[in-house]
Amino acid sequence: MMLFKTFFSRLALTLMLMVSLMASSIAQDASGGDGIPTDEATISAGQSLFEDNCTVCHAVHEVVVGPALKDVHERRPLDWIQSFIRNSQKVIQSGDEYAVKLYEEYNKTEMTSFDFSNEEINSILAYIKVESGKTPVAAAEEPAADGASATQAGASEGVSDFVMYALVINLVILVLILIVLAMIVRVLTKYLEQKSDLDVEDQEIISARFSLAALFKSKPMIAIMTILFVAVITKTVIDSLFHVGVQQGYAPVQPIAFSHEIHAGQYDIDCNYCHTGVEKSKNANIPSANICMNCHSAIKTDSDEIAKIYAAVENNQPIEWVRVHNLPDLAYFNHSQHVKVGGLECQQCHGEVETMEVVRQEAPLTMGWCIDCHRTTEVNSKGNAYYDKLVELHAEHSKEPMRVEDIGGLECSKCHY
Ligand code: HEC
Ligand code: HEC
Ligand code: HEC
Ligand code: HEC
Ligand code: HEC
Ligand code: HEC
Repeated sequence: MMLFKTFFSRLALTLMLMVSLMASSIAQDASGGDGIPTDEATISAGQSLFEDNCTVCHAVHEVVVGPALKDVHERRPLDWIQSFIRNSQKVIQSGDEYAVKLYEEYNKTEMTSFDFSNEEINSILAYIKVESGKTPVAAAEEPAADGASATQAGASEGVSDFVMYALVINLVILVLILIVLAMIVRVLTKYLEQKSDLDVEDQEIISARFSLAALFKSKPMIAIMTILFVAVITKTVIDSLFHVGVQQGYAPVQPIAFSHEIHAGQYDIDCNYCHTGVEKSKNANIPSANICMNCHSAIKTDSDEIAKIYAAVENNQPIEWVRVHNLPDLAYFNHSQHVKVGGLECQQCHGEVETMEVVRQEAPLTMGWCIDCHRTTEVNSKGNAYYDKLVELHAEHSKEPMRVEDIGGLECSKCHY
């Protein structure tokens, strides 16, 4: 069983290599040499300074109001950072090229000045440096303000998962095939050895030692490998094509930790209070920061998350919520038609939103999903004079209740412009 031995020793070697690589990258983080302290006490002091003063506008791995501070100590010299934190306007007004450019980039948002000592600032940087080395949670959805690229990251993750599975399964199948082949060879050899009327050449072949290289060069083996290879590629392509644009389960990280579970669940605020368009128009609308302010000018005013709402209102910048549901432009969907006329509940399409800490796309939003519901759902015709005549007409030639398909819900042009 040489084969297994080499396979497992390779595996062990790879694992060891990975572990040592990880260890060395951690070790690198701990080493100083750039004036930034590395001891635990300073780092945790820096953490509380950062959380008390900076998280309103900054995070390490993402843009909030100000830039992501990941690796800022590599971007800027230490004394520059110190002056900038003490008085950013002074640095900008001195004409510092980098500072002016950054200021413009952030729409001239003035960073607060902090009366911190060098030690205090260094401790904050120590904390930021440690955090910079960590991979952020949900890294795939990191570019929070950019729904499209987050979406792509999510999709490609699914595909690479699949490839991993396919590879592992393939490996197992290959090993099994090898074992079976080896067994067949043994049986045949035994059988042939008992035969006496063989010439020299045949004798040689039978007594030749089993060679892995020869096996892999043999025609049947090449054929099997080719077939497997083609099968995997085909399956991957088909699989990913079917999933292009389908985002079921998509739940991106939002710029503010807004929870439907708190607002629509615990406090039972009506969906319409925030999603003002749902009964009147095609779009449900995402509430503006002003609607949040109706309550949050008084509620939880000391919360870091709420401070982000204040920053948005003060800077007159909309909160950049990441869009969760997204039909392609070629399809037309209208909320008021479904909610107001059709009398459907939000939950039929969006799931139990009032229990969701983070909104997630429950339905697949595919054409088949729309059509299925139109085939099975009865038209809500009660108290709607517009439908009286249609219901009468329908009853003349059918005993079935009138469904959405009967009023044209399967016509291409109703959903496609
Ligand atoms: C009111 C919001 C706000 C607060 C609070 C704030 N910053 Fe900033 N910060 C900004 C903005 C906006 C910028 C971008 C430059 C500009 O517009 O002036 C910035 C830029 C920076 C930069 C330069 C980043 C780069 O990419 O070069 C550093 C470093 C920085 N801030 C550190 C801090 C630290 C540390 C704290 C807490 C002690 C803090 N900031 C608090 C808004 C803020
Ligand atoms: C207090 C205001 C508020 C209330 C009440 C509220 N929502 Fe929301 N809703 C938001 C905000 C803000 C967002 C955008 C941030 C997010 O996705 O979490 C949002 C996002 C959503 C989304 C995802 C939109 C997208 O991007 O595709 C759905 C679906 C939704 N809400 C449904 C509901 C339903 C159903 C209810 C009632 C059970 C409800 N909401 C109640 C504020 C509210
Ligand atoms: C009708 C009143 C109301 C509106 C409108 C409202 N909220 Fe709230 N919000 C609350 C209440 C009540 C709480 C719970 C406060 C508590 O836990 O003590 C809360 C809590 C929060 C929290 C958690 C804060 C924390 O640190 O625990 C966030 C974040 C939040 N709201 C964001 C928003 C956003 C964003 C909007 C606008 C889209 C919004 N809220 C609109 C009433 C409201
Ligand atoms: C028949 C299914 C259906 C029902 C019922 C429904 N929605 Fe939607 N909703 C959708 C679809 C589909 C989208 C995606 C629309 C798009 O991308 O154009 C969507 C998108 C949204 C969005 C994102 C912003 C927007 O306007 O596109 C919000 C918010 C939302 N729905 C809230 C609600 C609320 C609140 C209710 C209940 C009052 C509700 N929806 C009822 C299917 C539904
Ligand atoms: C949960 C069930 C349900 C789902 C899912 C659903 N619909 Fe509907 N749809 C209805 C009902 C009920 C009506 C009838 C409303 C009325 O009485 O006018 C309707 C009507 C329509 C109409 C008007 C049809 C006509 O002949 O007037 C269009 C267009 C439409 N839906 C598009 C969509 C699209 C696009 C999707 C998928 C993104 C979708 N619907 C998903 C239930 C659904
Ligand atoms: C009830 C609404 C509805 C009806 C009726 C409907 N479609 Fe669609 N169709 C959709 C939606 C929603 C999508 C987008 C689905 C997605 O992205 O997965 C779509 C996607 C498509 C696409 C795929 C486009 C692409 O880029 O993948 C084609 C083609 C299409 N529809 C053709 C038709 C034809 C032809 C008919 C009539 C026989 C029809 N549709 C009827 C809702 C509908």
